[in-house]
Amino acid sequence: MNISVFGLGYVGAVTSSCLAQRCNSVIGVDVDERKLELIRLGRSPIVEEGLNELIGAMVKAGKISVTSDCAEAVKHSDLSIVCVGTPSRPNGSLDTTHVERVCQQIGEAIRQKGAYHSVVIRSTVLPGTTLGVVQPILEAATGGAMGEAFGLSMNPEFLREGTSIRDFDDPPYTIVGTECEGEFERVAKLFADIDRPIHHVSVHTAEAVKYACNLFHAVKITFANEIGAVCKGLGVDARAVMELVCQDQKLNISPRYLRPGFAFGGSCLPKDLRAFTYAGRQTDAAIPMLNGMLQSNRDQIEAVARRVMAHGCRRIALLGLSFKPGTDDLRESPLLSLAERLIGRGYDVRIADPSVKYAALHGANKRYIEQELPHLRRLLTSPRRAIIDADLIVVGHHTPEIMEALENLEDDQRVFDLVGVSDFTANEVKTDGLYW
Ligand SMILES: NC(=O)c1ccc[n+]([C@@H]2O[C@H](COP(=O)([O-])OP(=O)(O)OC[C@H]3O[C@@H](n4cnc5c(N)ncnc54)[C@H](O)[C@@H]3O)[C@@H](O)[C@H]2O)c1
Repeated sequence: MNISVFGLGYVGAVTSSCLAQRCNSVIGVDVDERKLELIRLGRSPIVEEGLNELIGAMVKAGKISVTSDCAEAVKHSDLSIVCVGTPSRPNGSLDTTHVERVCQQIGEAIRQKGAYHSVVIRSTVLPGTTLGVVQPILEAATGGAMGEAFGLSMNPEFLREGTSIRDFDDPPYTIVGTECEGEFERVAKLFADIDRPIHHVSVHTAEAVKYACNLFHAVKITFANEIGAVCKGLGVDARAVMELVCQDQKLNISPRYLRPGFAFGGSCLPKDLRAFTYAGRQTDAAIPMLNGMLQSNRDQIEAVARRVMAHGCRRIALLGLSFKPGTDDLRESPLLSLAERLIGRGYDVRIADPSVKYAALHGANKRYIEQELPHLRRLLTSPRRAIIDADLIVVGHHTPEIMEALENLEDDQRVFDLVGVSDFTANEVKTDGLYW
């Protein structure tokens, strides 16, 4: 394939040379003459392990050429990959000026060329940018429609500086977001020799995955440092602690607890978070992330309560009450807090939780429920009974009994799903969740 790569910085230089190595003919485009000159001389414009040698070999083999002439690059290629920078503005917002400018130029060049051309956004851009900003620019500049004059896709980059060639050859996966027919196949072909999964997703998902991944990395580092800050104050070596945290690949380094849906609760997480952050205050540890977590969790419960109320239904079935399925522990259950809020605001709530038998509650659990939800005995019923005549069913647990009850919903009943079972039903019941 003939490819043009716009922007020859960290991402563009690596992308160009790694694609050239895969038998593609690559034309690199940049506005920085110094970078172009270095590549012409067969040298890397950036410091990156192995890149000098790779670019040298590719230039020598005639597989990479460079230019500052956008029209020439588009004319002699079938597909353009946009790798220009997307820096922060002083207020923190994303500056897409370079992406916009380069796509304007690419669009004009496609119009001149008069043939279909694929455009791939590899720069990191916020969800909505590719279809909301880039697509209109390309349509105005080409004078044609997406899918007819040009193809458009979003293909985020996951390389890390310092190991970028290795990361290019061995990514976690390849993500291609596109709504244009044939574009997924065209872009996937670029990475055909890489033995990793290739996911065809929506453009918005492709844009968002890149942010979610980078932010997760940032959360992990911040988490390790904040645990370290408190440990230091308590005289504990955080390296040994985090080493063991990482060894638990069942609950810690795993997909567990990484599904959006609802708040955490129970007898341990909130209590332990309070105790640890209190210890942090006593030792003057700077732990803003840990300190913000309980508030964030309360906000989730409030957000669900607001969304439930926004449905405008009076009769509500709440399926699930304890902090997770399979236990009758009601202490600090977010579903209980939700029930409290709804009942307090006058909603007619029926509650079903097969694990919670009122007569069997005792000890701290019983005291907690008597204090927080004294009418529970009257409200508790079976899942099947709870949903009869309910206008809205809030699904808080995913258990066989609850799923079975959900099979018999009436078409005018609505479901608010907190656990991601949205596709449980083939009938016409309207379902939504907090984050989908
Ligand atoms: N650096 C990384 O490790 C990394 C990893 C993944 C994703 N990303 C994302 O990739 C994008 C590029 O990052 P980078 O670090 O390579 O940026 P960079 O600043 O190193 O390179 C951007 C290049 O684009 C060029 N450019 C600007 N306007 C241009 C135009 N109109 N025409 C042609 N070239 C133009 C610049 O001269 C520069 O050489 C960003 O959105 C970034 O967030 C970066």
